[in-house]
Amino acid sequence: MKGVILAGGLGTRLSPLTRVTNKHLLPVYNKPMIYYPIECLVTAGIEEIMIVTGGNDAGDFLRLLGNGHEFGLQDLHYTYQEGEGGIADALRLAEHFADGDKIVIVLGDNIIENNIRGAVAEFSRQPGGARILLKAVPDPERFGVAEIKDRRIVAIEEKPSAPKSELAVIGIYMYDHQVFDIIRTLEPSGRGELEITDVNNAYIEQGKMSYDVLDGWWTDAGTFPSLDHAWRLVAEGGANKTDEPAASQPLVQQGLS
Ligand code: DAU
Repeated sequence: MKGVILAGGLGTRLSPLTRVTNKHLLPVYNKPMIYYPIECLVTAGIEEIMIVTGGNDAGDFLRLLGNGHEFGLQDLHYTYQEGEGGIADALRLAEHFADGDKIVIVLGDNIIENNIRGAVAEFSRQPGGARILLKAVPDPERFGVAEIKDRRIVAIEEKPSAPKSELAVIGIYMYDHQVFDIIRTLEPSGRGELEITDVNNAYIEQGKMSYDVLDGWWTDAGTFPSLDHAWRLVAEGGANKTDEPAASQPLVQQGLS
């Protein structure tokens, strides 16, 4: 399985910090933000990784990360997203890299306490389709939110004003090669972006979506309150722990066997 980290976008919610650098190069405690999604994939056993970045500071990723030897990687792949067309638009650029394999995607501003080894192992056994990770949060209206009936996800709503559950869809997604065909069918949302929630809903409609509920904390770091929160969580106990049991317990597989 291959890994893709999405680190494009303009990071306007962290302006003026993001006026002269890419959001994912900002520090979260003692490391640049982009280190955490890389470590997340590496601790899950993913050895081939592509970073999708964008904006004016893309060259700084190369200067910082080089070929990924610091993370035990043979090399790192990079590609460049022009503009800010959304998460699914950034993922589209990884089609050639994926080359028909299953992929694990991590959003560049997502950080987790433990690891996703269990979920990745389940997905590698899954015949195809998609797998996402959910986490109960106090503020689901900030995220994609899963609607669950009979332990199955029936739909995901992006930033709903009246969330149907407290289960946020975290920024770690697992897809088979069909994801790129789905992206080709998408239309931009009200905010002018190709939405990852639309990709997930397409898999749900086909009965090809499974999920796990993440163990341990999860946060994004794309706003000042969440960046502050992420910093404190990492400072207090660290992220991407490997000494814990597998973070995700396979609770439900729907539509797949
Ligand atoms: O953090 C999880 C949430 O991430 C999910 O619950 C939502 O369903 C999903 O839409 C997303 O929500 P956000 O609105 O918070 O995403 P944001 O625009 O902050 O983008 C998250 C990351 O995705 C960002 O750090 C880099 C990458 N990205 C984003 C855009 C818009 C790109 O690579 N290119 C883009 O054009």
